[in-house]
Amino acid sequence: MPGFEFFGEEERKEVNDVLNTGILMRYGFDAARKDIWKSRELEQAICAKFQCGFAQLTSSGTSALTTALAALGIGAGDEVIMPSFTFVASFEAVLSVGAIPVIVDVDDSLTMDPVAVKKALTPATRCIMPVHMCGSMADLDKIIEICRDRKLLLLEDACQSIGASYKGKALGTIGDAGTLSFDFVKTVTCAEGGAVLTNNKTTYLSCDGFTDHGHDHIGNDRGAELHPFIGYNFRISELHAAVGLAQFRKLDQFLSIQKKNHQYLQSELAKIPGLTFRTIPDPGGDSHTFLSWFLPSREQTEAVVAELKAQQAFAGNFYWFEHNWHYIRKWDHLKSEKTLNRLNTAQTAALKKLSTQDFSRSDEIMGCCISTAIGLSWTDAQLHDKAARLTTAIKKVLSKQAYPTPSKELDTVI
Ligand SMILES: Cc1ncc(COP(=O)(O)O)c(C=O)c1O
Repeated sequence: MPGFEFFGEEERKEVNDVLNTGILMRYGFDAARKDIWKSRELEQAICAKFQCGFAQLTSSGTSALTTALAALGIGAGDEVIMPSFTFVASFEAVLSVGAIPVIVDVDDSLTMDPVAVKKALTPATRCIMPVHMCGSMADLDKIIEICRDRKLLLLEDACQSIGASYKGKALGTIGDAGTLSFDFVKTVTCAEGGAVLTNNKTTYLSCDGFTDHGHDHIGNDRGAELHPFIGYNFRISELHAAVGLAQFRKLDQFLSIQKKNHQYLQSELAKIPGLTFRTIPDPGGDSHTFLSWFLPSREQTEAVVAELKAQQAFAGNFYWFEHNWHYIRKWDHLKSEKTLNRLNTAQTAALKKLSTQDFSRSDEIMGCCISTAIGLSWTDAQLHDKAARLTTAIKKVLSKQAYPTPSKELDTVI
């Protein structure tokens, strides 16, 4: 990760195809575009590779989530259960359709804890939205069971996990709908873009219209199209889709490089007593975008972060507990309802409760976790250097804290 490490002739060729026709929009202008349909081509490629019925490209992963929620009919008064560790886009999308984000603890898979999900169910729950964070998956069997028992919708946020799978099925294709992101730091990038995946034709047609002002896309006269419902403009452009198409064709190459680098780093870190790794519900389905590891205590983890920073070796590592974007602890704007537009009363009431909700279980896990992003363009020497620097910093901290040197005061007493 991310795919921009490998931009080349392939991306340039696809973009030039579009520039040569001058048709930068994905719809219409049939004669002038000379049969260049990059968005359609990318949607078909996604469906073929991930064995899913339908894919609708969008302008971003965030708009893919909003589109999916709207297409599934989720709105005012509906509760959507989501994890405490995700990107802010998850709750932004839920709020944008008038629904209520209900946030639950994560477990050591760094994804929503199914037990916490069960506890959060209410008569208003409509949807469970697991987020497949950092390249790996939520424990989907347990979540699917809850959805079946309670007749709830399942929306998979696979924005960070393109190419990962669960029990042989691509993430994002298992629930009623799933989403991908192609933003600039994702494994497959086109600067800004996303996709909704679904196997349900009605859901797909809703996504198709919703992302384009509700147009029904029937016939070949755009100006004469009808609007069966109100939509927005969440369209992707042909230029973005062109880059995405070239990048998507490289996905297998990206995944195999990630796997090789990940395996080496993991084998080195595994030699450190006391260090453990994230639980992966289906290890064979990991996309190896990140290696996430735990130290025994928050103090030790903070000390390793400080040590790595002091050695100028922290870049590419993420201590999410202190991160402003990805963890509930720093979402003050959400907890204090800082929105520009007014929220509905049910949303306001739910957000008020958030500031006093107990997330100590998530804190315990996230406070001890560091994720190392896996580079695509690392040379073997860089990979070995990375592993060595991490190992040295971790060992230094763990040895100090496991065997504290007696303080001066203690010396005097002895
Ligand atoms: C888990 C998750 N969901 C949604 C998004 C939103 O994607 P985008 O940046 O394409 O809007 C992101 C982006 O980082 C993400 O990590």
